[in-house]
Amino acid sequence: ARAWRGVVEEYRDRLPVTANTPVVTLLEGGTPLVPATRVSELTGCEVFLKVEGLNPTGSFKDRGMTMAITKAAEDGAKAVICASTGNTSASAAAYAVRAGMTCAVLVPQGKIAMGKLAQALVHGAQLLQVDGNFDDCLELARKLSVDYPVALVNSVNPFRLQGQKTAAFEIVDALGDAPDIHCLPVGNAGNITAYWMGYQEYRSDGSATRLPRMFGFQASGSAPIVNGAPVTQPRTIATAIRIGNPASWAFAEKARDESGGRIDAVTDRQILSAYRLLAGEEGVFVELASAASVAGLLQAVGAGLIERGSRVVCTVTGNGLKDPDWALAGASSATTVPVDARAAASALGLV
Ligand code: F0G
Repeated sequence: ARAWRGVVEEYRDRLPVTANTPVVTLLEGGTPLVPATRVSELTGCEVFLKVEGLNPTGSFKDRGMTMAITKAAEDGAKAVICASTGNTSASAAAYAVRAGMTCAVLVPQGKIAMGKLAQALVHGAQLLQVDGNFDDCLELARKLSVDYPVALVNSVNPFRLQGQKTAAFEIVDALGDAPDIHCLPVGNAGNITAYWMGYQEYRSDGSATRLPRMFGFQASGSAPIVNGAPVTQPRTIATAIRIGNPASWAFAEKARDESGGRIDAVTDRQILSAYRLLAGEEGVFVELASAASVAGLLQAVGAGLIERGSRVVCTVTGNGLKDPDWALAGASSATTVPVDARAAASALGLV
């Protein structure tokens, strides 16, 4: 056995790097594919969770960021910029530190989880809270990257998707082939695009014999692809996917159609219920947006869209610790006891 070297080294021959490329890494990737016992029982399928919250900054964004920052470094960039609902900014800030670059992040004012804000700040990013939504932030970041010497590291940067496709490789490497169904949340639609690219590459060179059907899920108040029109005022408690006009919209539809999959909406209530199911019955603490994959799977099975016995992978995209408010909201408050075993035992119902 040898130590995991990060996605660029692990999949070097499938990524746009040369022997001279200065790889910027926090040893991201190599995340667990955890069997989901309870969700499997509920669905009659064989369900696995690809736990992306275990990446260095707590989300799947690190896979893309190692590539984007590596290529920016190769290009001699001194500064990077991104728009974000929180995770991209946390990841960009950390990888910019590794590369010795400055990092500017544009986030929608008051609409990102506290942990993600803390990450950008602790890594020393220049943070601008924009009086607008994510789509406004992305437009602004794009303009700035055209007019000023800062490299854009959002998923419209093609190197981001190159890095993110490695999650599909890891899944096939772990299962021995592609699953029947792959479920994931959809926001700006970069990740569904990247997974589809990864699965296709593995199939075309014989590393997998088949392709999964791609099932993407948006929050019902922020579901432009499902509605077939941009949403000007996107709403959802799942702030990570509060996006009204996804940059990779057309690629997401291509992944859906070529794979025979679907892109559907799930309500905030379904998302919250899947979030509690994952934490309370699987022992996996994810952020709200991540639970959309499992909420969507439960809905699709209920609607008869997925055959019993199917092998299903749900990507859970981010760590629950990023946004603990929602965990505390549903919990009963803790009982205070004196330093006394009898009192503690009584409070615990042991006597
Ligand atoms: N899940 C989480 C936790 C996310 O942070 C995001 C996107 C998604 C799912 C959706 O992925 O955009 O590739 O369709 N977050 C971006 C950000 C927008 O700024 O952190 P997508």
